[in-house]
Amino acid sequence: MAVHGRGLKAARRGALAGDVSAPGDKSISHRAMILGALARGETVATGILEGHDVIRTAAAMRALGARVERDIAAAHGPVWRIEGAPWRAPDRRLYFGNSGTGCRLVIGAAAGRGVTAAFDGDQSLRARPMTRIAAPLEAMGARIGLSQGKLPASIEAAPLRAIDFEMPVASAQVKSAILLAALGAKGTTRIVEPAPSRDHTERMLAAFGADIAIGVRGGVRGGAREISLAGGADLTATRIETPGDPSSAAFIAAAAAIAPGSDVLIRNVLVNPLRTGFFETLKEMGAHIVFEKAREVSGEPVADIRVRGSSLKGVDVPAQRAASMIDEYPILAVVAAFAAGRTRMSGVGELRVKESDRLAAVEAGLKSNGVKCESGADWLCVDSDGDVRGGGLVETHLDHRVAMSFLVMGLAADKPVEIDDASMIATSFPGFVALMRELGAEISPR
Ligand code: S3P
Repeated sequence: MAVHGRGLKAARRGALAGDVSAPGDKSISHRAMILGALARGETVATGILEGHDVIRTAAAMRALGARVERDIAAAHGPVWRIEGAPWRAPDRRLYFGNSGTGCRLVIGAAAGRGVTAAFDGDQSLRARPMTRIAAPLEAMGARIGLSQGKLPASIEAAPLRAIDFEMPVASAQVKSAILLAALGAKGTTRIVEPAPSRDHTERMLAAFGADIAIGVRGGVRGGAREISLAGGADLTATRIETPGDPSSAAFIAAAAAIAPGSDVLIRNVLVNPLRTGFFETLKEMGAHIVFEKAREVSGEPVADIRVRGSSLKGVDVPAQRAASMIDEYPILAVVAAFAAGRTRMSGVGELRVKESDRLAAVEAGLKSNGVKCESGADWLCVDSDGDVRGGGLVETHLDHRVAMSFLVMGLAADKPVEIDDASMIATSFPGFVALMRELGAEISPR
């Protein structure tokens, strides 16, 4: 058992109440840094997530030649100013810590810019598959060196040509790596997705003036989404207001849904339909969730989300929903433990190659807290009468979402729940513990 001395314990204290904002969306924050660094002029971005993952992407953009500054003089939180420049070979290896998104997207962008660079990450990131981006990039002409399909990786400057690529997995990271490379390729790149994944890269490329089109391709699979991007166009700086991250809001919403009597408002959350599968599923389980004041911010749909505690029932979560809630399955599995009946999640094999093998980590964590659960190659099943014993010590395997999920479990279980290491939470949700305490949660060192 890994014990890092950074463990936490969460205990039941009653209902949660209050009015909070989730931190900035991680996906949009990474993309703001990267597209800003590729564009002419100064991109001004507010609401940026200042978690470790995004800060490392910002540092990589500086090392590649962009000007990236954090201006704290503004009245409404920090403003990030990013100014593109011709990219240069960095003088040291680019280090992405825990972040698959940062690393994969920057490898794509660097290939497109024709720079030579080396890439690395922590023990978790070094275990994640990189061939899924290297293969299409190599088909475009990129010269990529991997270590048995993984990090450390290197790329050598090489000219790129457009490709026509049918993606074998629905992955926004793979799609985005190819699109960012395609910006610097000769010709028009076309990508077909097996199922729609988050489209922030496409939306933001359009806002920066790229020549991008989204269509539907018939053919064998019929109705698949096709994205075309012309290479060689210049990007122009823009303003970006980053909304709150629905994947972070999910932990707050889950805690309110399982703690009886709770009433919580989460302000300013991104509700792009390719990200809201978790909230849809919670509603099907019987949760009281209302999207209030729906509006559009920087080309993305945004709302305030109100959640009230209620009794929940198990549901079947269809495989087609997986891409729209891919990061939310660990917290959904915890919610399912408080729902009466069986919750079956299908088509979730991708969870085995996230920051940890999330199916294994979640199954072990549930079992150590007395919850009946089973998993297969690409499914997870939770059986419960709605009551959770708790009392377990959960191994988090360097995974922020596993850590937060089981702290949430402790807030409504009969006995406190402990996690071995909370340090990774800062990769995506630096103020998580303080925010949950503000709502009335009891979280303390173990
Ligand atoms: C992300 C895409 C998802 C998600 C990750 C962020 C992105 O990964 O798990 O946290 O910003 O593109 P995949 O696209 O590989 O499923």
